[in-house]
Amino acid sequence: MRIYLSRPDITEKEIEAVCAVLRSPNLSLGPKLPEFENAFTEYIGRKRAVAVNSGTSGLFLCILALEIGPGDEVITTPFTFIASATTIMMAGAKPVFVDIDPETLNIDPAKIESKITQKTKAVLPVEAFGSPAGFDKICQIAQKHNLIVLEDSCEALGSELNGKKAGTFGRMSVFAFYPNKQITTGEGGMILTDDDDLADICVSLRNQGRGKGDSWLSHERLGYNYRISDINCALGIVQLSRIDEIKAKRKQVAKWYQQMLISDDRLIVPTESAGCDVSWFVFVVQLAKSFTLEQRNKILEAMKAKGIQVANYFSPVHLQPFMAEQFGYKEGDFPVTESVAERTIALPFYNNLTKDEVAIVCKTLKEVLG
Ligand SMILES: Cc1ncc(COP(=O)(O)O)c(C=O)c1O
Repeated sequence: MRIYLSRPDITEKEIEAVCAVLRSPNLSLGPKLPEFENAFTEYIGRKRAVAVNSGTSGLFLCILALEIGPGDEVITTPFTFIASATTIMMAGAKPVFVDIDPETLNIDPAKIESKITQKTKAVLPVEAFGSPAGFDKICQIAQKHNLIVLEDSCEALGSELNGKKAGTFGRMSVFAFYPNKQITTGEGGMILTDDDDLADICVSLRNQGRGKGDSWLSHERLGYNYRISDINCALGIVQLSRIDEIKAKRKQVAKWYQQMLISDDRLIVPTESAGCDVSWFVFVVQLAKSFTLEQRNKILEAMKAKGIQVANYFSPVHLQPFMAEQFGYKEGDFPVTESVAERTIALPFYNNLTKDEVAIVCKTLKEVLG
């Protein structure tokens, strides 16, 4: 028996759409690229969408387009996937971490202002595990201090806070489509903004710095190849058309986990914060505060030995060796992040996980907890 941590949900419709592109002459820069982008602007409700080959490239291009670079500081969370911070560094700017709120697991709005300096140019908040909790407050603080908000929505496609969609909080925002995400393109990402100039710069940067109407061999700026193929876009178009169904399936799986685990006082079980309609990315429980890191790691190993894939989302970004070395971060700098990160267990989570499988995961977890 084996229960996977995540599995993509690919139907015949996706397979047919991909095959249709393969039968066409346009494998890249064809009609599926604008079709995918237009489907996104319509779904999120923003003016422009620029599809790229990963969430990481999307964040990096936003940072370049926003002219964030050497000498600038960007406030972000240490409780995230590494790319939220490394894309700031790729542009030569400094990630400045702010600890998280233990309830929402997102940047603690109350701790932002003390980290703002003359050099602070932007705030890069992340909807951890898909939840936009606290984003209204984070944006208010950014606005008060005239800071740009670059929203890392890579985990939050379909989530809302008080009826406002994830991906509409930042001046620019980015989604990602790795196969464990709500929708997948295999690999891929999407930049959203209402600013035509910023979108046009991203379009150019993604395609070797070519300008509008430029020929293939003329380039108006230093650019990259962060293009996404029409094969990936075709997959994404069908996946996005199913987002309501996908969100509902994931909500159901989360509900089963909540029902089966919520009464166990050895666990802290995630629920939706007030005002949030979460499109669940992963389902991450925390062990109670009495558990140590060593105990958590043993539990992870015991679950894996029983054929159930689990993970330690996230390992604090500031304690990654190269980060600690470059910026001097050390244990104890962000105690909430460190405490939460030591006790997390990401459980198997995907659209088509059955109630029986969820029951097996929960039963095994309870046994392993002793
Ligand atoms: C919060 C966050 N930011 C950025 C990324 C980067 O996306 P990608 O893996 O597509 O480069 C991810 C993806 O895992 C993510 O979860």
